[in-house]
Amino acid sequence: MLSLSFLSRPLLLLLLSSWPVRAQEPAAATPTDAPDCPEACACAPGGQANCSGRALPAVPAGLSRRVRALQLDHNRVRALPPGAFVGAGALLRLDLRENGLRWVHARAFWGLGALQQLDLSANQLEALAPGTFASLRVLRALSLADNRLACLEPATLGALPLLRALSLQDNELSALKPGLLAGLPALNALRLRGNPWVCGCALRPLCAWLPRARPCLRTRRARLPPPKPERAAAALASALYPLPSSTLPTRVNK
Ligand SMILES: *[C@@H]1O[C@H](CO)[C@@H](O)[C@H](O)[C@H]1NC(C)=O
Repeated sequence: MLSLSFLSRPLLLLLLSSWPVRAQEPAAATPTDAPDCPEACACAPGGQANCSGRALPAVPAGLSRRVRALQLDHNRVRALPPGAFVGAGALLRLDLRENGLRWVHARAFWGLGALQQLDLSANQLEALAPGTFASLRVLRALSLADNRLACLEPATLGALPLLRALSLQDNELSALKPGLLAGLPALNALRLRGNPWVCGCALRPLCAWLPRARPCLRTRRARLPPPKPERAAAALASALYPLPSSTLPTRVNK
């Protein structure tokens, strides 16, 4: 590894001087001047920014640390560049459903260290780069449902210690990569239906995860009984394939 002491002083100065000027500006030094709300959006007290359904082609400018929940669903954000949400470091919930989103830079979500819920469903994602979610250390719920993902590498999800709910349903996945669930110790709801799963070794990570899942898997609104070996197999089957309604468990919570 290259250490700083290895660099000659002129090179070091050169590196420092090419640092973006923006980084030297005092961040939020004058909070009263900071816009409360991106221009294109409607904001409500408590940090709700509603930018839903406004045909926005990109993440709107003017996001501040006052924004706690950002509704950016039903727009035309086709790509997320690096640092797409810089400035919104206090964001807790981000809704990006239905944008025709095709490309997410590996560092698109950098700076969102407080984010708890991320909804990327109903987009056109075919792949996600390793490390895409790495900075989301307190993420609790992630939906990638209804995209075109054919493959999901363990490095894409990485380690998300607090993630409780993950939806992968309605994609093109045929296998769960070994290690995919290993970095998700808090996971207790995993949605997998609507994928062309190939049963067999490709699903072995799921079998390892099932015995500790509690409640193990959800199908529609039904909560399955706690996993026993024979029930785990049924849970697996019902999680992967839609059940005819007559075979749903009779006890349905909520
Ligand atoms: C957000 O704005 C859209 C469009 O103006 C509106 O239909 C919707 O009800 C708003 N959502 C909330 C939660 O206020």
